[in-house]
Amino acid sequence: MKLCMIGTGYVGLVSGVCFADLGNDVVCVDKDIFKINKLKKGIIPIYEPGLSELVKKNYKSGRLSFTTNLSEAIKNSQVIFICVGTPTKKNSNAADLSQVFYVAKEIGKFIKSFKIIVTKSTVPVTTGDKIEKILLKNAKRKNFSVISNPEFLREGDAINDFFFPDRIVIGTSDKRTNKLMHSLYAPLLSKGAKYVNSSRRGAELIKYASNAFLATKITFINELANLSEKIGVNIEDISIGMGLDKRIGGRFLRAGPAYGGSCFPKDTRAIVDTAKEFKTDLSIIKNVIKSNENRSKILLNRVSKLLKNKIKNKRITFLGVTFKANTDDMRESSSLVMIPSLISKGAKIKYYDPSGYKKDFDKFKNISFSENIKSACIDADMIIIHTEWNDFKALNFKKLSSKKNVIVYDMRNILSPDKMKKDKINYFGIGR
Ligand code: UGA
Repeated sequence: MKLCMIGTGYVGLVSGVCFADLGNDVVCVDKDIFKINKLKKGIIPIYEPGLSELVKKNYKSGRLSFTTNLSEAIKNSQVIFICVGTPTKKNSNAADLSQVFYVAKEIGKFIKSFKIIVTKSTVPVTTGDKIEKILLKNAKRKNFSVISNPEFLREGDAINDFFFPDRIVIGTSDKRTNKLMHSLYAPLLSKGAKYVNSSRRGAELIKYASNAFLATKITFINELANLSEKIGVNIEDISIGMGLDKRIGGRFLRAGPAYGGSCFPKDTRAIVDTAKEFKTDLSIIKNVIKSNENRSKILLNRVSKLLKNKIKNKRITFLGVTFKANTDDMRESSSLVMIPSLISKGAKIKYYDPSGYKKDFDKFKNISFSENIKSACIDADMIIIHTEWNDFKALNFKKLSSKKNVIVYDMRNILSPDKMKKDKINYFGIGR
């Protein structure tokens, strides 16, 4: 099938490359000429394991191409995916749809034969209706079908998530379009993915509901971790014990710092905003947002307590600062809240992250990036494992630190408390 992805950000690039790998002809369009030229040379603008190899392979095969020429790309494609960004609006909780609407207007100008126009970006319910209106205004006649096909890829696992999805959601009531989308996804359906055909608004809501529910699950286990700490049980036992109930499921029940990233914080805010528009109170999601915003404060209080309320001049090392492992993404990472707070109390911070130095901390004094784990930890009073990179899972803290009583605060519970006890490390985890 001939496909066009508009926007070569996370969603567009990963989906485009993977569709090409499944044998489709895919053209990826972006207005940023520098980005397009780099992609043609195999230089990838985002950090995603395995993506670079897949881009090079499919570009070489001729199934994948990159361009800034939107009209040509639209003319030559049957299915057009809108994959541009939908960030939170300034001073508001609503999603900023200006890029989506701009693209819709442009598409309208270039439609000559029947096209399926798909929103893959996360867009609030009714966006499909609005896109259809824009297209009707700009196209000569109604020769298109606007549908919703939300994306469920996780950063760091995106390629695997694309090829082995739990479900494909297609929001359309048009039979011809549904048949075509079903055949596009047939290679994934034959591997066990379920196909869900709903209304367009239904598909738009499925995306937000899924992210909000996962955020709720994480927040639920984080609050239970607070309780576990007080009553002296291990939150890991609770997650396993609950998660084995198939109605609950064990995934996304890992206690840790506040959830972050470019999706959960933004999408929970946006669904509350949509509900408000429809005069509905999503009180659970509102409380999830509040609880998550308070999470860093709770962990910071624990840091303070472990340091006997003496933070001034303490050397604190962060192992990992990204919002999760296998990404270089700092968006809404809890390290962006915790590190400045500790600096303001007089701590001296060092950090190491396998994805490298972060300019986010440039504006602060008393913080430095270390090139390796050893130099980050050598003189630390406290080592905080903030992100669950594999690199941190088998460290020998006795050898890493020159300080006998170094405190290890494992905010991701990636280390074994028994082993730490055996090694005589001053070790603390989350909810245990
Ligand atoms: C999330 C969803 O998982 C994807 O399905 C969705 O497609 C994507 O948003 C999106 O809307 O684009 P992502 O933000 O890449 O994916 O990352 P997650 O793996 O979901 O992690 C989000 C946050 O939750 C991270 O801070 C992570 O550390 C935290 N988390 C996750 C936990 O604290 N505990 C868990 O058990 C799982």
